[in-house]
This record gives sequence, C-alpha cells and structure tokens, in this order.
Amino acid sequence: MAEAQIIDGKQFSADLRARIGAEVTRLKDEHGLKPGLAVVLVGEDPASQVYVRNKGLQTLEAGMESFEFKRDADISQDDLLTLIAGLNAREDVHGILVQLPLPDHIDSHAVLDAIEPAKDVDGFHVINTGRLATGMDSLVPCTPAGCLMMLKDVLGDNLSGQRALVLGRSNIVGKPMAQLLLAESCTVTIAHSRTRDLAEECRRADILVAAVGRPKMVPGDWIKPGATVIDVGINRIDAPEKGEGKTRLVGDVDFDEAVKVAGAITPVPGGVGPMTIACLLRNTVIAACRQAGLDDPEI
Ligand code: GUN
Repeated sequence: MAEAQIIDGKQFSADLRARIGAEVTRLKDEHGLKPGLAVVLVGEDPASQVYVRNKGLQTLEAGMESFEFKRDADISQDDLLTLIAGLNAREDVHGILVQLPLPDHIDSHAVLDAIEPAKDVDGFHVINTGRLATGMDSLVPCTPAGCLMMLKDVLGDNLSGQRALVLGRSNIVGKPMAQLLLAESCTVTIAHSRTRDLAEECRRADILVAAVGRPKMVPGDWIKPGATVIDVGINRIDAPEKGEGKTRLVGDVDFDEAVKVAGAITPVPGGVGPMTIACLLRNTVIAACRQAGLDDPEI
C-alpha cells in the first residue's frame, strides 16, 4: 500500500491566515472595524508563554489588535475576575482568551464562565459548549475546529456515516471534537483511559483523532488501512540520537508506523498545532462581526 497523504497544517494554516488577513482589511475599510483579541496569562509556565507570544504575533500579522495581560501566579481569583469583567466591558476587545492551565488555587470553571459568551473565542463557556451540543451557532473551540477543517480538506465536506473515534475526553479537545463530528453525522465513539479493547475500537475507525498527550501511544497496527488520522498530541521526548540532552516533539500516534497504514495523517510538528492559532484568529473575526451586527464572514 502507498504511504499516507501527509496533511500539511503549516501550509493549511498559512492559507487560512491569509484569508483572515484579507477579511480584516475588508472590515476596516468597509466598516471601520478592527477586531481585537485580549489574552490573559497567569504565571510563568514556559509552554504557555510560547503559545501566548505566538498568539500575539500572529494577531498583529493578521492586522488585528492584540492586548496581553500578564499576571503573577499568586493573583487572587477575585482580581482575575475583575480583570475579565473589565475586558467584557471594553468595546475594542472582541475576543478574550485566558490561557490554561491556571494555578491550582483558581477555579478554572468560574474564570471561564466569567467571560462574556459573545467574546469567548476559546468556546469554553458553558453557554458555548451547550450551544454547540444543541446545534446552535456558537464559538467553537479552536483545536477541534482546525481538526475538522483538515478532515474536510482530505475527505470532502460530507463526513456522514463515517465511523469516528476520538481518543481523549478533555473539555478542550476530546468532547468538542466529538460534538463537531456528531454534528457532521459521523458515528462517534469517545475512547479514554478506561476504554476496554482500545486497539479494536481504533481499528474500526475511518477517522481517528488522538488527543491524549501520551507519546506514540497509538501504534500502526491499531489503525484501519486507509483511515484518516488526526494527531493532536504534542509531546516532548528525549532524543539522544540528536545529541546529549536533546529533545524532540512527537504525537500521540507512532507516525513512522502509521504513515504506512493510514490514508492520510497529520505530522507532529506541523499538523494540528499551527491550525489552533489560525482558528483562534478566525473566531476573533467572527466574534467581532457578530458584536458589530454583521453577517458571519466566509473564512
Ligand atoms: N492551553 C492549551 N490549549 C489551550 C487552548 O486552546 N486555549 C486556552 N485558553 N488554553 C490552552
């Protein structure tokens, strides 16, 4: 069997960002509207710092306004809620994102639910999760939205009847991914650490989305020949072959094995990762349009 098609998330996200940039220019020219995204970072988590920096840069590159609010890890929950209330009230802020994880003394649910749903560009507020689950217009979590775009690029717009397995049940990826696939009329299974016969569950799937955060957990022989594999995992592992102390990124799927079996697969890095920020920018433009009473943009 031929090797799988490699789904190029870097190129895909660059194309999406270009369309977003063009839409932002149109909104400024025709409506005097400049979408603004506020990102809140609490503490010093190195991975979060990298994400937040990249979000800020790409927001500016797309022609939007970027606001960053960095707070010490010992900020009180009340102070964080006050910050969010201020952002909810600002007219130049159309999207608000609070970077996760938050420190243990803060109740993440309370913080996420304090964000005005119309500005909740992460799609994590219960109003938006409920709207997604019931088939209403909502702001959709960025990583699953990007995964669905790439799936449709490979398989076409009609995913009806496909057997989809989502490996992982997080609020950020697994659960909203399952909702999106269900809305596309897939037959959806959510598998997780307690699932029995996981290998057999995976082997039935036409679409396999892996989002568990365990390096190379899915071997090639768990994959149905010709399946489309979306690997959300970004795991840093030791790479002594590159030299002492060196590391590299791998996904939740053993790529070298899977590429010989799958029909199409996202690489790590360069697959799902770049799509997440592009979808965040897209959500910010959608949120800005809705707040201004304009139709949703075609991006
Ligand atoms: N931390 C890891 N992924 C995400 C995400 O998509 N949104 C937020 N806010 N925090 C994250």
